[in-house]
Amino acid sequence: MNKGYFITLEGPDGSGKSTQLEHLANWLAQRGYEVVRTREPGGSEAAERLRDLVLDPQLTMDERTETLLYLAARADHLAKVVRPALAAGQVVLCDRFSDSTLVYQGFVRGLQLTELMQLNAFATGGLEPDLTLLLDGDPERLAARREERGVTDRFENEGLAFQIKVRQGFLELAKANTQRIRVIDAMQQQEAVSADLVKELEALLKS
Ligand code: TYD
Repeated sequence: MNKGYFITLEGPDGSGKSTQLEHLANWLAQRGYEVVRTREPGGSEAAERLRDLVLDPQLTMDERTETLLYLAARADHLAKVVRPALAAGQVVLCDRFSDSTLVYQGFVRGLQLTELMQLNAFATGGLEPDLTLLLDGDPERLAARREERGVTDRFENEGLAFQIKVRQGFLELAKANTQRIRVIDAMQQQEAVSADLVKELEALLKS
C-alpha cells in the first residue's frame, strides 16, 4: 500500500488558508488522490469539543492550560483521523498543526519552545508533516484586505503587534526547517497563490 502524505497549512488568521486548502483538495482529487481535509484544533469528535472549549471567547485560560487543550485535541485528531488516513495511503490536508502551537503558545504567549517541542512530540508520537505550506503576508496589508472583504475575525482585537509577532514566529520556524516548510507569498492574487502551492505539492508528490 502507498504511504500517504501529511501536508499542513499554516499562517495567520485571514491569510486565505481555507480558500487555498479547498483549492488544493480539489486539485488532488482531480488527479485521483484520496484526500482528507481536516483542521486543528479539531478534526475528530473529541478534538472538536476541545476546540469549542479552547476557542470559547467567554473563557480566559492561562497559556499552560490552553497549550494542553490544543495538544489533547492534537493527540485525538492524530489517533482517530490522521494516522488511519495515512495508513490507508490518503493525502491529509490539515489547516494548522504543531507549528501553530510553537508560534501562538511559544513566540506569542511566551512558553519555552524546547518545552513545547517536547510536549508536541508526546502528543504526536513524533509524527511530522511531509510538507508545511506557510502563507505569509504583511499583517497590515492582510488586515486591510480582510476589511475590504468585510471579514471580521477573532484576533482583530489583539492588534497589529500581535499579528507581527505571529508572522515573525512563523518565519523563524520556516528558517529553521527549510526542508519541510515552504513560504508562500499570500499577498499575491489568489490564483498566483494557488499556483505556487500546487508547485510545492507537485514537487512533493514526485519525490
Ligand atoms: P481558526 O478559527 O481555525 O483560525 P484560522 O482561521 O486562523 O485558522 O482558529 C484557530 C485558532 O487557534 C487560531 O487563531 C490559532 C489558534 N491555535 C493556537 O493558538 N495553537 C494551536 O496549536 C493551534 C492548532 C491553533
